[in-house]
Amino acid sequence: MEQKLLSLQDEAGKNLDQLVDAGQLEDFRIRYLGRKGLFSTIMRELGAVDQEERPRVGQLANTIKEEIEKLFDEKKALLGSSAQSGAKGASSIDLSLPGRYPERGRLHPVTQIMNEVCSIFEAMGFSVAEGPDVEQDHYNFEALNIPAHHPARDMHDTFYVSDSILLRTHTSPMQARIMESQQPPLRVIAPGKVYRCDSDITHTPMFHQVEGFLVDTKVSFADLKGILTVFTQKMFDKDLPLRFRPSFFPFTEPSAEVDIACVICGGSGCRVCKQTGWLEILGAGMIDPEVFKMVGYDPEIYSGFAFGLGIERIAMLKYGINDIRLYYENDLRFLAQF
Ligand code: DAH
Repeated sequence: MEQKLLSLQDEAGKNLDQLVDAGQLEDFRIRYLGRKGLFSTIMRELGAVDQEERPRVGQLANTIKEEIEKLFDEKKALLGSSAQSGAKGASSIDLSLPGRYPERGRLHPVTQIMNEVCSIFEAMGFSVAEGPDVEQDHYNFEALNIPAHHPARDMHDTFYVSDSILLRTHTSPMQARIMESQQPPLRVIAPGKVYRCDSDITHTPMFHQVEGFLVDTKVSFADLKGILTVFTQKMFDKDLPLRFRPSFFPFTEPSAEVDIACVICGGSGCRVCKQTGWLEILGAGMIDPEVFKMVGYDPEIYSGFAFGLGIERIAMLKYGINDIRLYYENDLRFLAQF
């Protein structure tokens, strides 16, 4: 009987290993542990065992039964949990998983810089004006002292809609639009999109500018310098020196291109500033008397300054980005950094 019990234990263990589902498990239980199962059948022989041997054999039988039951329970637990995880994949919901957060949107870096530029000038008393992207040749060129066939038109790579209608190549037309409808004193900024047929690492066919101008009596170049100095200090959170280089724009006289000390190296020379220590950030000047005459202002009474700056350029300088096209590829890995 002892021998039978030991081989039953052996056989049951091997059998259990093969089981793959709850049905087979139940068959196993009936076959080995049921009332008419193999174990009970063997136990019926206990009466025939020698009186002296009986307690020991009975003890062994108990141990073996417990062992088989234990293995059976373990297998049951194992099959039960894998059955559950199978069902999970199919339909059930795991309430213990953390929730999925919706992706949060944010303002595009160009919009952020645009807003920042506007609020710096608003704090200095400028009001914000917006004008049309599809503009008349008159406002984009003529009223800014750039008549037909003027060589300055070549700088603009213009998208024409018709002979007299175009996509504005700069925000300067807002000078003429505002001045012809309002009287000085004026302090205005005009943010918006502009278009030029140009594309490389520093140019995109559409980009953003902010035009600013101030008209009053006795406005001087020093006022321009003061306003721009405050602007660059606020924009770059640093006391950066400014440099005015003589330049030419048909609508300002004198004209200047304005540089700031390199935001990366502070002026000592690096790759970003091409070892010059300076970065160009905007064009500016005193509004040309011809522009005043075209809108009916008397240049003997009024004077004013104007400036135009590129938003993408400022964003590139502020964040140390060397390819303007990154702003327009809609790669969230890039955009989410701002
Ligand atoms: N409109 C010029 C451009 O897009 C920038 C500019 C230069 C604007 C000088 C101004 C200015 O108001 O005074 O290149």
